[in-house]
Amino acid sequence: MSDLSNKHIVLGLSGGIACYKAAELCRALVKAGATVQVVMTEAAGQFMTPVTMQALSNRTVYTSQWDARELNNMAHINLSREAHAIVVAPASADFMAKLLHGRADDLLSLMCLARPIERVPLIVAPAMNREMWTHPATQRNMAQLKADGVHVLDVGQGEQACGETGDGRMLEPEEILEDLVALFQPKVLAGQHVLVTAGPTYEAMDPVRGITNLSSGKMGFAIARAAREAGAAVTLVAGPVLLPTPRGVHRVDVRSALDMQMAVAQNVDAASVFVATAAVADWRVADVAGQKIKKDDSGQLPQLAFVENPDILAEVSQSPRAQSGALYCVGFAAESHDLLNHATAKRARKGVPLLVGNIGPATFGLDDNALLLVDEQGSQALEHASKLTLARQLVAEIARRLKAS
Ligand code: CTP
Repeated sequence: MSDLSNKHIVLGLSGGIACYKAAELCRALVKAGATVQVVMTEAAGQFMTPVTMQALSNRTVYTSQWDARELNNMAHINLSREAHAIVVAPASADFMAKLLHGRADDLLSLMCLARPIERVPLIVAPAMNREMWTHPATQRNMAQLKADGVHVLDVGQGEQACGETGDGRMLEPEEILEDLVALFQPKVLAGQHVLVTAGPTYEAMDPVRGITNLSSGKMGFAIARAAREAGAAVTLVAGPVLLPTPRGVHRVDVRSALDMQMAVAQNVDAASVFVATAAVADWRVADVAGQKIKKDDSGQLPQLAFVENPDILAEVSQSPRAQSGALYCVGFAAESHDLLNHATAKRARKGVPLLVGNIGPATFGLDDNALLLVDEQGSQALEHASKLTLARQLVAEIARRLKAS
């Protein structure tokens, strides 16, 4: 199942140079499984031809409320009734002002006004020059649109087509897609604050060398994304990985186990759920050399001594908030064999209500996995699937347990 299977999206384009990104967005929506109906304003037609959008969406484009193809001549009604969501990208300053006033003098604004407001969400991706974006009129319009229930996406920052630099660029197509996919996910963690650790840690030996492990961080990042999609505020404490931050997630980058311990301590009081997916190094080097350790001709090998790292999950699960039930703790176990026995033993040792086992060597670095959930009731398998699919299932399982407790 793709993220937008069985979803019909009306993609509206108003006038702006960011129309070129709407072509990419259309492709991305189709690739994610959606059917896409494009509606363009007259101004959008100055930047992008309907021919391009027709080819990408595989449907003829609507540009006029007087389109005679509609037997009842009510394109604004017909198109909005079919949609699971309307996405206006780019939304120009002028189009936002029109929406705000409920004006309806072209097909796109008319259709937005005529949409069944309870059933068809309206998402707008603003795109404009930085002065236009920060102008009090635009900011006022944006605030009022949000109050009216419109999902106004944030804007990107950087170099603009006009040559100026600042806020107001339209989000990238992949970012808009991620926000749209999130909109359709059930909000089972609304009101919760989820703290996730992810990735490996890196324990330095000297300024240029260190000890780490093969954890890619993908499972933890997928859980952070799924928790955010489910409506939670999410803080992600990430070891050294090059993965993009999921939309809307607050990320804290760390390197060593001690850094991770400190970042968790700083963020755990605000959390109601703690999910420890990080592959924290069990030991660190006792005396990190201040300078690079050099080979010499003596034939002597360097001698490394280790000290044990703190067990972050065990510490958190023993805290008064976790013990009182104000903080729900979930641990992970990466095993190579005998998953149920190891996971059951580890759940008891860590003192957590839920322990998630997986076979480490079978999943490190890959995009899919299989999980075994162990709690006081017993165990439950989540069958082989993409890490994001499993993360969404795990989030649903956590939400179910929170509700029951
Ligand atoms: N964990 C942690 N801090 C550590 C070590 C582990 O928070 N210093 C967390 C991991 O994020 C994971 C769980 O504890 O949720 C894994 O437990 P752990 O005992 O580290 O597993 P293994 O290292 O696989 O244990 P063992 O070597 O005994 O199999």
